[in-house]
Amino acid sequence: MKKYLVIGNPVEHSLSPQLHNYWLKKNNIKAIYEKKLLKISEIQEIISQLKKDQINGVNVTIPFKNSVIPFLDDITDLAKETQSVNTLYKKKDRVIGDNTDVGGFKCALENINYNVREKKILILGAGGVTSSVIAALKKMGALDITLSNRTKDKAEKLKKIYPDLKVIDWGKLSEFDMVINATSLGLKKEDKIEIDYSVIGSNKFFYDIIYSPSETKFLSKAKELLNQTENGKKMFIYQAQLAFEIWHGIKPEIDDEVIKLLGND
Ligand code: ATR
Repeated sequence: MKKYLVIGNPVEHSLSPQLHNYWLKKNNIKAIYEKKLLKISEIQEIISQLKKDQINGVNVTIPFKNSVIPFLDDITDLAKETQSVNTLYKKKDRVIGDNTDVGGFKCALENINYNVREKKILILGAGGVTSSVIAALKKMGALDITLSNRTKDKAEKLKKIYPDLKVIDWGKLSEFDMVINATSLGLKKEDKIEIDYSVIGSNKFFYDIIYSPSETKFLSKAKELLNQTENGKKMFIYQAQLAFEIWHGIKPEIDDEVIKLLGND
């Protein structure tokens, strides 16, 4: 039986196994998808198992999306641009790293008909997912992207890849139409992002990459002030759908059951 994995540390929270196993069953594919808590020293062994067909595909999550790259035979252009890999597969005896987070974010915005063209975007956080968010926004024609991260150095590093990115100090705000939380703040219910909501007003779009909890303080506060909000659930589902398609050649359906599978807090 074919075997697929998500590797990360921590990985316990990952809902990828539920989602992929649901789609595998629905499409009558005899395979299993599991999660594996990994140390960086164990990545090489996972890649060897992929080479030997003991594993048939891998999703990579925090904190290995960048550090997995040196172990791979090749990465796609998108993975190269973002320096972020979340999907591994074997092609002609070579282990390839791809990035479906970019497509996942893009599909999520298209799904809700939010057009970023001519829009000013503020991104909070410069962690593992940020380069994928920026790549997607640029593909979709965002007018202006500003980045703010507690550790400014990490934001400046992204500016080397995307020179027209504007970087501002953590705690400051730029004028925006859409603000994206790409930090890990909000994963814990009590987490708060210290921004001055009173100067933001209404009719802006607040997007949180976090999908569990389904409503972070960032989103509930935004809602209170009559802004549009969206959590990261659709992005998560679409990145998984793209990975499934790479591995199995089938685009699995996003039905009500899928939404329900991931609906719990
Ligand atoms: P990594 O930084 O290892 O890529 P991540 O989970 O992908 O991990 O990213 C975490 C993001 O949340 C980072 O932008 C981080 O800011 P730093 O780069 O300054 O660490 C941000 N973050 C986490 N805790 C935070 C906090 N208490 N206040 C502000 N930002 C925080």
